Amino acid sequence: MAKGLDVGTMNIICADKGDGSISFAQQRNAFLEMESNDLTKHMLDNSKVLYTQRGNNLNVLGEDAFKFSNVFNKHIRRPMKQGIISPDEKESIPIIKVIIERVLGAPEKKDEVLYVSVPANPVDSQLNVLYHSKTVEALAKKLGYNTFTIDEGLSVVYSELSDSNFTGVGISIGAGMTNVTVAYMATPIVSFSIARGGDWIDDQVSVATGMAKERITSIKETDFSFGPEYELGCVQGALAVYYDALLTYVLQQLKRKLSETAPPDAEFQVAIAGGSTRARGFIEMFEKRLSETELPIKISGIKKSRYVTPASKDSRDPLYAIARGCLIAALTKEASLAPEAQASDVTETNAKK
Ligand SMILES: Nc1ncnc2c1ncn2[C@@H]1O[C@H](COP(=O)(O)OP(=O)(O)OP(=O)(O)O)[C@@H](O)[C@H]1O
Ligand SMILES: [Mg+2]
Repeated sequence: MAKGLDVGTMNIICADKGDGSISFAQQRNAFLEMESNDLTKHMLDNSKVLYTQRGNNLNVLGEDAFKFSNVFNKHIRRPMKQGIISPDEKESIPIIKVIIERVLGAPEKKDEVLYVSVPANPVDSQLNVLYHSKTVEALAKKLGYNTFTIDEGLSVVYSELSDSNFTGVGISIGAGMTNVTVAYMATPIVSFSIARGGDWIDDQVSVATGMAKERITSIKETDFSFGPEYELGCVQGALAVYYDALLTYVLQQLKRKLSETAPPDAEFQVAIAGGSTRARGFIEMFEKRLSETELPIKISGIKKSRYVTPASKDSRDPLYAIARGCLIAALTKEASLAPEAQASDVTETNAKK
């Protein structure tokens, strides 16, 4: 059965449609460097902790990196930055490889189709998206998958907009990036990325308030919503300011990009996904900013995966929408390769949404 893989700056997520319903396997895209000795290695092996070794050091990977960072009071590091493999971390590629292997597992059959999300070309920086995309694609191919890449924004369209014939605007606001794709019948008209997301908001608020970034991230994820009038100088107020700045910037870039094309005379629904859209009141705030932007296309409305509970791994959580979109693209591809056998799977997946 086909799979979808979302390789993100903060999370690596695999979507799989094993016995009918979609399930997700997730790891944090992070590592923690530790000194290696026989006892530590024995302990890690016994508890099936993901790690890589290099000389006298080992790197604990994924979710476990966070557990160990609390115990040993050490800083987490990340193999990706601003949506792509980090040029600052020499061991990024072997680390991402091991995490991808863990969430994907081996293919269940020869040439199993896999779609991997990759960032679109950035509008505002010189990031090397091509190198990142080719590397991630090669890692998945090495595992034996028949691998294809898909723009992250288009995967949101696949995940959320089947009832609009895959015509609309898919926006993913993650940790390192924001990705946007305007698609007409599943074909991109405009696709771009912006090297800003949740990390950028956290960094800006940290500088503005003088509070550690980790603390800002935690407040943002657990104790922040749009709407209330916050006291001047508090973290929540600063979060609202930078969220607003990011959204305004994204919508301005969308307007600019659309004005360079001749979009068809159709109605476009907007779908928003990615962890940064989980904030309470986000959709209303986004709706307001969208209505203030004069886009050269007709917008029919906004669709957003509703975030229910952090522990549910719910298919409707916007954090999982990208992996889900990749899975739907993979099922569609698999059906086109073996039309009779699998066409029903795709229809079923869309119907279950
Ligand atoms: N409840 C929440 N409220 C606000 N932000 C949240 C919440 N939960 C997670 N986030 C933020 O979502 C971001 C992670 O989202 P996501 O997993 O979609 O990113 P990613 O795919 O790993 O990154 P990218 O696509 O940019 O490479 C982080 O910035 C995180 O702080
Ligand atoms: Mg992402």
